[in-house]
Amino acid sequence: MKKEQVVNCQFSVWYPIFKKHTIKSLILPLPQNVIDYLLDDGTLVVSGRYEHTHTNTLCSVAYICTWSDDETTTTATAPEFPEFTSKVLEAINALGGRVFPKLNWSAPRDANWIALNSSLQCHNLSDIFLLFKSSDFITHDLTQPFLQCSDQDSPDPVINYELVLRKWSELIPGGEFRCFVKENKLIAISQRDYTQYYQHILKQEEQICHAIQEFFSQHIQYNFLDEDFVFDVYRDSQGRVWLIDVNPFGEVTDALLFSWEQLTSSGEIGQHQEGPAFRYTTSEVTVQPSPCLSYRIPRDFVDLSTGEDAYKLIDFLKLVGCSQIDLEFMWIGWLFPFWSSAYSRTL
Ligand SMILES: Nc1ncnc2c1ncn2[C@@H]1O[C@H](COP(=O)(O)OP(=O)(O)OP(=O)(O)O)[C@@H](O)[C@H]1O
Ligand SMILES: [Mg+2]
Repeated sequence: MKKEQVVNCQFSVWYPIFKKHTIKSLILPLPQNVIDYLLDDGTLVVSGRYEHTHTNTLCSVAYICTWSDDETTTTATAPEFPEFTSKVLEAINALGGRVFPKLNWSAPRDANWIALNSSLQCHNLSDIFLLFKSSDFITHDLTQPFLQCSDQDSPDPVINYELVLRKWSELIPGGEFRCFVKENKLIAISQRDYTQYYQHILKQEEQICHAIQEFFSQHIQYNFLDEDFVFDVYRDSQGRVWLIDVNPFGEVTDALLFSWEQLTSSGEIGQHQEGPAFRYTTSEVTVQPSPCLSYRIPRDFVDLSTGEDAYKLIDFLKLVGCSQIDLEFMWIGWLFPFWSSAYSRTL
């Protein structure tokens, strides 16, 4: 995978080419001060986020919260971006009031657990910031977009960062597929949500494969800037296929039910057969945990923060012990309101 291939897979590059076949979206240039804010370790929450009290996530506990040991990085007031905020709100309204946010390449899929609705659905800039600042995928876009490229000796292309707002669409995960294109030939299709078993895929294997091949040959093939790439599609309940994303053909893109060795080595996939190789999860037995689970905080932290389990809190405080008095006080101060309410409920 070359740096140029990564550049070509930016949303603002492929969207104009395939606009008719994908979800309506708007692209806003990301100002430098917003980029700096997203990369800043200190401030986690932006102003206006918590007008009302929620007690079921860690963030709800702190209005402004810093994870750094260095006290000087603590931010007393949240930054404001009035001009950018109004542009974003205008765009969100134009897209129906609910959007799916991304940067040039990635969505903050690893951070949806932190949102109050446990989803990537956003209604305002604060929702977007909370997800973006909590996401390693977003940090990767901002700091290392060319990490796995083979042409490391060549200078990094200049990237103009963009906030992509996509009209919110209720996509059923069983309708999503990832398609691998090598030398302009569709060589492989994988179920996108491969950790789950979907009976309809087993039943409609042929129709699905055929619909995706048709979509590829009519709308995608030879229309993209590279001959090797990966595209994601959604097949809706009427059988219509939509383009969801375009990704680089290389390790940076998850090969799902294939491996990159299989996809790149000659003779393995796509060389001898007519149509693409189609892989999907064939039974409940092979169901796996979601790959994004590892990005979440430990369950114990959530229990401690909500005060749902008073015994866990007591165990935790015992564990901290007398030698860490400061830490103990900090936790008691932080958890007391939740713990005491849980305790009184228990009584
Ligand atoms: N407009 C939308 N509305 C609601 N959900 C969406 C929307 N667009 C995408 N999604 C959901 O979010 C998932 C991730 O979207 P997308 O592929 O754009 O992110 P990504 O960061 O490029 O992912 P990857 O790293 O796997 O390429 C999709 O599989 C789909 O389930
Ligand atoms: Mg993608």
